[in-house]
Amino acid sequence: MASNVARRLKGKVAIITGAASGIGEAAARLFSIHGAKVVIADIQDELAQKVCKDLDPTSTTFVHCDITKEEDLENAVNTAVDKYGKLDIMYNNAGIVGIIKSNILEDEKSEFEKVTSVNLVGTFLGTKQAARVMIPNGRGSIITTASITATIGGSGSHAYTCSKHGVLGLTRNAAVDLGRFGIRVNCVSPYLVLTPLALDYLKMNGKKASDVYSTLNGATLTPKDVAETALFLASDESKYVSGQNFIVDGGFTAENPGLSIFK
Ligand SMILES: NC(=O)c1ccc[n+]([C@@H]2O[C@H](COP(=O)([O-])OP(=O)(O)OC[C@H]3O[C@@H](n4cnc5c(N)ncnc54)[C@H](O)[C@@H]3O)[C@@H](O)[C@H]2O)c1
Repeated sequence: MASNVARRLKGKVAIITGAASGIGEAAARLFSIHGAKVVIADIQDELAQKVCKDLDPTSTTFVHCDITKEEDLENAVNTAVDKYGKLDIMYNNAGIVGIIKSNILEDEKSEFEKVTSVNLVGTFLGTKQAARVMIPNGRGSIITTASITATIGGSGSHAYTCSKHGVLGLTRNAAVDLGRFGIRVNCVSPYLVLTPLALDYLKMNGKKASDVYSTLNGATLTPKDVAETALFLASDESKYVSGQNFIVDGGFTAENPGLSIFK
């Protein structure tokens, strides 16, 4: 446990979707260290319960929640309020990569709908359900894990790229809507982080972890690095930050490798 001075989420209550694994799990651990009560909302019950057990059981709860179902998110939000009295932070992090095809002609409508249903519709539902209890309190921080594919093309499937562009649009729109009620809405956009989702993505592209290009030499992006950014957006240190897309990519989206003069 961090010291009182360093506990940046002391007294706050957070829901993190997709916290059984990867970035969400790292966020659950970090938010917990920083004094937050954490509700882990995921569909992988066993893994999620294991994360809960590792953390302080008096301040961590697991709720089975499929983010494509509004009633599941409603239940997760109600659980946070019933158990801990309020909701300060909603971290919409759950997502899927889907099947990657190298040509739009091979893309199935059903697959497009599946990916956008989790990544975009699920995020909309999480934002809406969080807003339901945050509005009467006149405060709150809503964060979503977007991606570098929210702002550039060619790094993900059509469905994944559209879903993440959509999430960025939702972040901006919700920041304006919910700003009237003192609620901040932001997203964090990582480059490739070696989680189960990213390993699936690499496998489908016939690539290995060692093939991953980085603009920034000497550093590897980890789930905790992304969680640290979410921690900043969740904490009062970012009290005037809203409607923003915080890109954590080591400069990747700043570079055009085709025209780079820095070889
Ligand atoms: N890993 C990367 O390279 C990378 C890069 C950019 C953005 N992201 C985004 O980060 C987020 C987290 O991904 P990760 O890399 O940690 O992957 P991960 O596979 O390790 O974790 C994703 C979690 O989401 C959960 N989940 C999936 N569908 C769900 C649903 N319908 N309802 C509730 N939970 C569900 C999974 O059970 C899993 O625990 C995703 O939104 C992903 O798009 C990942």
